Amino acid sequence: MYIMKPFFNRIGSKRDIVDKLIQLIPEHKIYVEPFIGGGAVFWRMETKNKKVIINDIDKQLIEGYRLLKKNDDNKLIIPPTIEEKQQLVNRKARDDNERLTQILLLSCNTFGSQGKYKIYKNTAHIQKIKKINEYSNKLKNTTILNQDFKKVIKKYDSKDTFFFLDPPYEKSIDTLYDNYFIDYKELVLILSNIKGFFMLTINDSPNIRNLFKKFNIVPIIVKQKSNSELGGSGDRRELIIMNYEF
Ligand SMILES: C[S@@+](CC[C@H](N)C(=O)[O-])C[C@H]1O[C@@H](n2cnc3c(N)ncnc32)[C@H](O)[C@@H]1O
Repeated sequence: MYIMKPFFNRIGSKRDIVDKLIQLIPEHKIYVEPFIGGGAVFWRMETKNKKVIINDIDKQLIEGYRLLKKNDDNKLIIPPTIEEKQQLVNRKARDDNERLTQILLLSCNTFGSQGKYKIYKNTAHIQKIKKINEYSNKLKNTTILNQDFKKVIKKYDSKDTFFFLDPPYEKSIDTLYDNYFIDYKELVLILSNIKGFFMLTINDSPNIRNLFKKFNIVPIIVKQKSNSELGGSGDRRELIIMNYEF
């Protein structure tokens, strides 16, 4: 079976710890990912027979997911050279397929997968294009939203809901995410009052440990297999925070 990897890349992917995270997810009927990004956990997880909601504040990324959901067996045509990829990204898209190709290239072939600026890698995405139907099918029963995470948590919270939350790290806010501001204190307050389960992944820092101290905190070391262009290489300390025991 094809193991689904993120279709769109995003800084801060959970690719390297996805198996560990999935093992810690409790039974639930409604799966909600308010900060989907590339969605490493969503793509890998079995979501059949569940109500699934994915969300991100990034307009272009969500446009990409919506086009991928609509795609009906149309294989995307990826130009062979970096120069031709750049030309494709620079022009006005002629149809939905071309726009989807542009977003794929912007999210995967730019420096640090920032979704903008110059095409710098020549990746051809052969596997993803071959399996595009599997990607579209998984999205067919998925609700795709482009809102602030707070609205999504409020709307979909219930005793049957599981939230997987992967917000930007503390230090990344100014530099990597167009100044999207996450008020972690407010996030703690919201999570203290939900009916459902949540699991959150975040960088390890004294401030975060203190803010989330009433929850179950599991420190982990993430061995970085993937060669990250931003943030350098080497192991990373992270926290998995849950409102349940495992
Ligand atoms: C660390 S990334 C998620 C990575 C993802 N788990 C993966 O495996 O690729 C965080 C995401 O949160 C989004 N984001 C930032 N602020 C947000 C907000 N206020 N509401 C919803 N999404 C937000 C960013 O656009 C980014 O895609």
